[in-house]
Amino acid sequence: MDLNRKTVLVFGGAGFIGSNFIRLILSKYPKVKAVNFDKLTYSGNLENVKDVSKDKRYSFSKGDIADQKHVRSVFSEYKPDFVINFAAETHVDRSVHGEALEFVRTNVEGVFNILESVKESKKILKYVEVSTDEVFGSLPLGSKQKFEETTVFAPNTPYAATKAGGDLLCRSYFSTWKIPVVVTHCSNNYGPNQYPEKLIPFCITRMMENKKLPIYGDGKNVRDWIYVMDHCRALELCLIRGIPGETYGIGADTELDNLTIARMILSYFKRNDSHLEFVADRPGHDRRYAIDSSKIRRELGWVPEYDFEKAFRETIGWYLSNEKWLRAIRKKTSGFNTHITQKIKRNKKIK
Ligand SMILES: NC(=O)c1ccc[n+]([C@@H]2O[C@H](COP(=O)([O-])OP(=O)(O)OC[C@H]3O[C@@H](n4cnc5c(N)ncnc54)[C@H](O)[C@@H]3O)[C@@H](O)[C@H]2O)c1
Repeated sequence: MDLNRKTVLVFGGAGFIGSNFIRLILSKYPKVKAVNFDKLTYSGNLENVKDVSKDKRYSFSKGDIADQKHVRSVFSEYKPDFVINFAAETHVDRSVHGEALEFVRTNVEGVFNILESVKESKKILKYVEVSTDEVFGSLPLGSKQKFEETTVFAPNTPYAATKAGGDLLCRSYFSTWKIPVVVTHCSNNYGPNQYPEKLIPFCITRMMENKKLPIYGDGKNVRDWIYVMDHCRALELCLIRGIPGETYGIGADTELDNLTIARMILSYFKRNDSHLEFVADRPGHDRRYAIDSSKIRRELGWVPEYDFEKAFRETIGWYLSNEKWLRAIRKKTSGFNTHITQKIKRNKKIK
């Protein structure tokens, strides 16, 4: 089975990973149809899918997954064969600083609405719910432990808790109604089209503006980095070959702390540590994530293909050569990561 002659309903396809996924399937499968349903929040932008917008196999529908009627209507209008959900509130800082209710609406209620429609449709071959390794909580620094599919959920932030809520609903709909749902738990992504509030594009855009890089706490928090196209290829395999009811961990074994990432960006721009500014840590800041992806490698034959150093440099290059994209998305919001930049301002007041 592949995706040719099939309609894939993509929720959240105007965001970072969803837009890269749409580009991947349209370039790989000449006969696929992709329907992008997206609310276009601050992080969703049609600039991300501009290159495919005139493709006859692509359609866009603006809507909110928390609106059950609208979700139902998109299922009955397009009659999808496959469903994949990227639509989510995704920025941990926002979930910590007063916007948690929006996370509950989209990440829990939204997933519930999709599950209901998949259950009603009866023709869906697979629904992939794109989730995160953050649902597993935090690992100790310096340990060799990794998250596995069997690791118990222990979310520490409202973002992670709402993602875990959506994942558990998926589990229950499989157990109760055998709907063909697969849940994936991926580590931190980097690459083109990522909204610049997330660490890597945030640091790149700060350098482009000749501003300091704010670092939470001691900067030793470790993340397990994966290039976005490696993640998208894993998701494509989960759609085609993933076993309903199963979950898959996705990661590329690239553990680096935030300070190392910031210094790699400083070094690209030929700057030194004087351009770093340490700020008060975020509450509930997980210390370390690391994912064991041996199950998806063994069972679905996935392997990450992108070399970290090369893809990382190319990602910086992408932001440098896409200032027009940056201008377009900046128009929608006043600043890219207001919570951490406010802390820089507070640091200055104390001095
Ligand atoms: N970025 C990462 O490092 C990472 C890692 C693992 C898992 N994930 C998961 O992957 C998914 C996509 O993440 P991303 O980084 O592309 O996020 P993103 O913030 O770039 O994109 C999210 C998209 O969802 C849309 N959206 C938000 N609320 C919506 C709603 N109520 N109805 C319809 N559309 C809505 C937004 O407009 C946007 O286009 C998320 O579920 C996230 O939890 C992300």
